[in-house]
Amino acid sequence: MAESTDATVLGQNSKPEVNPAPAKPAAKPAKTGAGEGEDEILGKRRRIIWACIVGYLSVSFLMFLRFFFPRTLFEPSTIFKVGYPSDFSIGVDTKFQKAYRIAVVREPERLFVIYLKCTHLGCTPDWKPAEDKFKCPCHGSGYTSEGVNFEGPAPRPMDRARVELDAEGQIVVDTGRVYSWPKGQPSHFNDPGAFIAV
Ligand code: FES
Repeated sequence: MAESTDATVLGQNSKPEVNPAPAKPAAKPAKTGAGEGEDEILGKRRRIIWACIVGYLSVSFLMFLRFFFPRTLFEPSTIFKVGYPSDFSIGVDTKFQKAYRIAVVREPERLFVIYLKCTHLGCTPDWKPAEDKFKCPCHGSGYTSEGVNFEGPAPRPMDRARVELDAEGQIVVDTGRVYSWPKGQPSHFNDPGAFIAV
């Protein structure tokens, strides 16, 4: 009798057996502090290498583009017109000095163009109307209104540019072709092209 009572009690209190849940896969092992540090260093190296590659390619590309823009010096033409002989009165006219570095000189029977380059060291002499002379600002050489040196270290007169009249009667100057009076040698100031008869 006592046995059946126990069995009853047992049957009432015992729960049905349930299958255990499948075991979860073992979690990955957490990275250690040293592993994270290595990853960071590798990332940094990769970034530096890429920066170098991109920099190198950028510079190469810019150098490639530079070939399309050669360092050419575009100088103004040495041949130009300055107007008609009647535009100039007797004396020295320096209105083209800034643009072309010349002075146009008209005399009673001829017109010529002085190329304003000092024969000492190449500075540009200025016309001084009050003193009736060209004066070099660098070392003080003086030239007459015809460009002939008479004071200072200049060794010879200033050159004259080639002049001629075009079909319309305008004065065409060519500073690329000059007439000189070398020291101790004959002058070329009377050569054809060194002046215009007016
Ligand atoms: S450059 Fe003209 S005097 Fe020296």
